[in-house]
Formats: sequence, structure tokens, C-alpha cells
Amino acid sequence: MELTTTPERERHAKALAARLSGRVVVDGTLRPALTDERFPVENPATGEAIGMAARCGQPDVERAVAAAAGAFAAWATLPHRQRSTILLRAAAALEAEMESLACLSALETGNAIATQTRGEARTMVDILRYFAGFAGEAKGKTVPLTERRFLFTRRVPVGVVGAIIPWNAPLMQTTSKLGPALAAGNTVVLKSAEQAPLAVLRIFEILQGILPPGVANVITGFGEEAGRPLAEHPQVRKVTFTGSSAVGARLLHYAADKIVPVTAELGGKNPNIVLPDADLELAVAGIVQGLRLFRQGQSCTAGTRVYIHAEVYDEVIRRTVVALAAGRMGNPLDESTQVGSIISREQFERVERYVAIARATPGARILTGGARPDDPTLKNGYFYLPTLIDGIPADSPVCRDEIFGPVATVAAFTDFEAVLREANDSRYGLAAVLWTRDLARAMEFVDRIEAGFVQINQFSVAEAGIEYGGTKLSGMGREMSPESMVEHFTWPKTVIINYGTPGI
Ligand code: NAI
Ligand code: MG
Repeated sequence: MELTTTPERERHAKALAARLSGRVVVDGTLRPALTDERFPVENPATGEAIGMAARCGQPDVERAVAAAAGAFAAWATLPHRQRSTILLRAAAALEAEMESLACLSALETGNAIATQTRGEARTMVDILRYFAGFAGEAKGKTVPLTERRFLFTRRVPVGVVGAIIPWNAPLMQTTSKLGPALAAGNTVVLKSAEQAPLAVLRIFEILQGILPPGVANVITGFGEEAGRPLAEHPQVRKVTFTGSSAVGARLLHYAADKIVPVTAELGGKNPNIVLPDADLELAVAGIVQGLRLFRQGQSCTAGTRVYIHAEVYDEVIRRTVVALAAGRMGNPLDESTQVGSIISREQFERVERYVAIARATPGARILTGGARPDDPTLKNGYFYLPTLIDGIPADSPVCRDEIFGPVATVAAFTDFEAVLREANDSRYGLAAVLWTRDLARAMEFVDRIEAGFVQINQFSVAEAGIEYGGTKLSGMGREMSPESMVEHFTWPKTVIINYGTPGI
């Protein structure tokens, strides 16, 4: 099918959305959910309903976990070369559908196809292909003991993995969970986010002809109703989650009762610090990229606490405001659109709430944004202008909470020690970035900043091969590396062989 014009892309995505409505993929088949309950999936750029998703609960969880449990033994014992071959075929099948998936994801998330979902579809494939190559890497070690005793460890797949993902980058979040879990020999039940279930369903539909039935299952629904019974299910032996810190903490509680490990990739309120000796052109581009302008700020690594040295403050702000205004906002399926809409009314209202707090704060100034765009064609969608606010005290919720929208605070500083202290004065510890040409300062920052993902003179995102994760409220565990795959998706068995019979 040709997908060269906006109406073609829209028609294509809407047809998929209609076909996938009310479905789940369980035991290798796209099929109606057991529940008859449905909830609408919205196009956040227009407010229209584009489909209905199944509101799964306990019975659908049971069926999916049973399928995954049934498929486990054969998948776990499949020679790893064969697991790799199958996963490589799965990656190729997704690769062939990247454009289609990018359209559907843009339709249901409001992320622009040109700047976000197309690139994300590429990353989705890269991650699965990367982990496919590591199916043979779940290796143990050998340890010399005393004479005539030999110790080795094996890594054993955990069994059924329960994966729960959010809505901000669902294509790549799906393979971030599937890749390492499946390569290590586990089977998976994934629950998609209620705001963005359809492209994820389509991924599993594509995989159903390639993976053995039951190896990868997906259900849709809400957190308490579908996510919780999945996480609590006695046969789910590992939980892997991306989302808010509050829900991450809930999942740790659920898993605690059955002594099951949890990997949690959670929120952030990430400092982005510009020193006066920085290359300002790079730094301004980095502030804009750090704000995740092209994802409406909806990224856990977004650099939403911007600190700029007083010597260059006015200059950097002036240029950043210009750069932010240049981002073309519009229909996410238009090739010319660079900035799409916020995911939902709930998130839109959250953004408005924090901006209202800022407005009511004495001394605070909205430097740009702070409103919906004027364009009347965007009035039914959750569009919001990228917003910079200064004069916010460090203890304001605007400066402390993860807003998860196109809003950042900016502040001038003169003292490196003071700004470092302020950067670390956060409940979160995910990403942190410094712009400087001074190597000693850069290394000082690396040594002392409390963050799991530190960058100097760039502000990019995680990808296959870049080990990724947070500290403090930003989570526990790591993703995207073969070591994290082994650590989080297998358990170690220690074996000692005593030669037994005295020496011959
Ligand atoms: P959330 O953390 O509530 O939802 C993420 C996923 O967890 C969804 O699939 C949801 O259905 C599921 N979930 C919710 N409650 C659950 C429960 N009790 N048991 C099992 N699963 C559960 O995130 P939400 O409500 O969509 O967004 C709220 C805030 O969370 C955002 O404003 C942002 O601050 C943060 N967030 C962070 C993300 C990240 O990438 N770190 C992604 C999405 C949200
Ligand atoms: Mg929630």
C-alpha cells in the first residue's frame, strides 16, 4: 500500500485501528479478548475515537500467562542458534512494516511521524536485532576451587516475564522488553498502556507467524485491572516495567510477596547545565534536543531543569526561544509536522496545572509558550507550546516534579559547586548533561552527579548497546546491554562437581 500522502497514511492507520479493536494476541493468534468490555482509543491530535481496546482483567491475564507458561519449556531449551534465527526473522518482519507501524503509532500517540515515530520504528527493529545476536550469551563462569573440585555456574531463564509499558515510545519500549527476555529463553506477557495499545498489538500480530505460539503474548487494559493481576500472577517470575515512579513502587510491592525481581525504568527531572566556556551553538541545540521538543517533552530523560551560567544566560535563552518557536506543530501524520500533540487530556491538564502554579509564583516569568497554539486547526487536539519558565524557586513543585510535557525551568548560576548541589537535590537520578570544553570540570561532574545516564556535550537518548537506567526514584536495573539481559532475565545456578573417586 502507498503511504505517501497524509490522507493515505491516515486511512491506512485507521483501517488497522479498526481491525485490531477489541483484540489481544495470545498463544500465537490475534483474537478477541475474553472480556466484552471495551474502552475507546483516542487520536490525541483531534480528540476523535479511532478504535476500541479490550479492557482485560483477571481472565485474560490467566489465559495469556497460561499460554506463556505452556510455551516456556520448548523455547528455553531451543538451541540458542535457533532462537537467534527466529528473533532475527522477527526483526526483519517488523522492519518490513516500519512505515505502517510508524503511521499507526503517530495516529494513537500524537507523536509526529517525521520526527518521532519513524525513527522510533527503526530503533524498535535495531533493539530486537541486537538482542537476537545475544541468545548464546547467557553464559555462566567457572571458578577454580581446591584440587579435584570444579565449580561452574549456569544461567537459567526465569520463565514467564510480565512486561508493562507506557505510551510515550511504545514501539521501542515493546522490543526493549521483548528483546532481552526472549533472547535469554523466557516467554512474555506484555500489557500495553491504555493510551496507546494499537501499534503494540500490531507488533505482536506481525510476530505471531514467526515466534512459536505462546512465546510472546499481549493484552490491553488499565493498570489496576490488567497490569496488577499480571504482576501478581504466581507464574510470572519476573516483572519488567517502564513508567511512573509511583507505579514502579506498586510493582515492587506486588512482586515482594512472591520474591520476584523487578526491573523498573522510571521518571526523571533531569539537569542540563551550560558552563560559560561551552560551544553555545551546540548547547542551544542540546537544550532543545534535551527538552525532547519532538516528543512534546514526554520522555523520562528530558532535560527539564536547565541551568545556564549567568555570563551566557541571556544569549542562550534568546537563541533557545528562537529554536523552540521554529518547531512546526501540526497533524502528526503530515510529513511537514515536527511537533505533535500531548498524549491525552489527563497529561494535557497536568501540564496546564504546573504552568498555573508557575504563573502564581511571585517572580516567575514564562519566557516562551505557556499556552495552546493559535492555529484553529489544532484546537481539538492536546497541543501545547513548548514552555520555558524562569524565576522558579528550587523547592517549587514545578522544579521538583516530573511534569512529562513540554515544560522546563531555566535558572542562571555563577557557582559550579552550588549548581552541582542543586542538580543533585532531586528525588530522581536518571539523566544529567553538562556543556563545557573544560575537561577537569566535565570529569568533576561525572564523578559527583547522581544520575544513571551522564552525557557531556550531547543530549541523546538510549539505544541498543547503550546501557541505560537510573538511580534513586528513577528506578533499578539496566536495559539495552547483553550484561543487563543476563542479569535481569536469568538466574544463576552454582554447581560443584567433586571428582569423587580417589585419584586413578
Ligand atoms: P503510569 O506509570 O501510571 O502507567 C504506565 C503503565 O503502568 C501503564 O501500562 C499502566 O496501565 C500501568 N499501570 C498503572 N498502574 C498500575 C498498577 N497499579 N499495576 C500495574 N500496572 C499499572 O503512567 P501514566 O499514568 O500514564 O503517566 C503518569 C506520569 O508517569 C507521567 O506524567 C510521567 O511523569 C510518568 N511516566 C513516566 C514514563 C517514563 O518513561 N519514565 C512513561 C509514562 C509516564
Ligand atoms: Mg497512571
